[in-house]
Amino acid sequence: MNKKAYFGEFGGAFVPEVLRPALTELTQVWQDAKKDKKFWAEFHELATTYSCRPTPLTFCANISQKLGGAKIFLKREDLNQTGAHKFNNVLGQALLAKRLGKKRLIAETGAGQHGVATATIAAKFGFECTIFMGAVDVARQRPNVFWMEKLGAKVIPVESGTRRLKDAVAEAYRDWTGSVETTHYLLGSALGPAPFPEIVRDFQSIVGAEVRQEFLRKFKKLPDYLVACVGGGSNAIGLFHPFLKDTKVKLIGVEAGGRSKKLGENAVRLGMQPHAPIGVFEGFRGEFLQDAYGNLAPTHSISAGLDHPGVGPEHSFLAQTGRAEYVAAHDAEVLAAAQFLMQNEGIIPALESSHALAHAFKIAPKLKNKSIVVNLSGRGDKDIFIYARALRDQNWKEFLRAEFNSL
Ligand SMILES: Cc1ncc(COP(=O)(O)O)c(C=O)c1O
Repeated sequence: MNKKAYFGEFGGAFVPEVLRPALTELTQVWQDAKKDKKFWAEFHELATTYSCRPTPLTFCANISQKLGGAKIFLKREDLNQTGAHKFNNVLGQALLAKRLGKKRLIAETGAGQHGVATATIAAKFGFECTIFMGAVDVARQRPNVFWMEKLGAKVIPVESGTRRLKDAVAEAYRDWTGSVETTHYLLGSALGPAPFPEIVRDFQSIVGAEVRQEFLRKFKKLPDYLVACVGGGSNAIGLFHPFLKDTKVKLIGVEAGGRSKKLGENAVRLGMQPHAPIGVFEGFRGEFLQDAYGNLAPTHSISAGLDHPGVGPEHSFLAQTGRAEYVAAHDAEVLAAAQFLMQNEGIIPALESSHALAHAFKIAPKLKNKSIVVNLSGRGDKDIFIYARALRDQNWKEFLRAEFNSL
């Protein structure tokens, strides 16, 4: 076993033979780039001037006062280019794809944030671009689909299986198997076959590194709690990783509790006992929600970006070793937390990030004199249709009716 490809017993690279050379080449190019100052100079130049790094750390004075316990801060990844943390990884991998000499990018996306980020960089760098997206997600995240198409990407709605992210992932692998010579699979989260979990983590670690630096500069100490939502796990591992050795800093990942604890009604892989069973899917050994036959189980979440049966291998390892804790937030709590943030701080969060908010707001009252940093992984604009429906907004309904009638 190549220990470098694993986090404890989780990880590895389980792919068809035809993809092996691509993973080997990617590993080599990544190892070279990691040591290359020019690579990082270009990354940081674009992260600063094309995206908006460093993103601010916002103190939520009103909410902290209302909850009467911990001081709550938000790491503002919503202010990145295209409105989510996804761009950090997309930028890094697009620079790697250039070094690999690839002409085309493919990606899969749930919420569409990773898809939009990939489409922007493809437009900027001149890559051809194809995005796979479950047909259910195409319907519920239409604003992002609209922008991907306008940016010049081809969006393929995936009609197989449950028509969600897991089916889009399967379709992306199918494409890559036939196009690997010219195509880089720009994987969007800290999972998949090695070396992707490490690559995505390292590009996303800019989030935690900035939090660390800013906290030390302002308060001369580290935060007490870091809280992030966990889909595949990239925004959470990006925040956690620079703090792994600071064992006094508590790390909490929040998964999608969905509608109920029943299989198929949530996407809780680690935030329950026992964890989701171990399996090998999507190129790695990890913990996956599975049906009675050992197939990937259907999932549900109000947020497309957390609606996935698998989670990154490093999170399984952090859960197993006890370094990080994993919990769940339910759809109703998530909506309440999002409204609480909007109405008290004037910030519109993505539904994914609102899972982290829901948990932070739950624990804050009991944590007097402590500080909590929540990763606000994305902005809520993309979720306007879901918010409007869930909040039964009559004016929005009438607006849609009028738009429809004017077509
Ligand atoms: C805003 C936002 N946050 C979080 C996620 C979940 O992904 P990850 O766990 O890789 O951060 C997504 C996925 O689409 C997202 O769009």
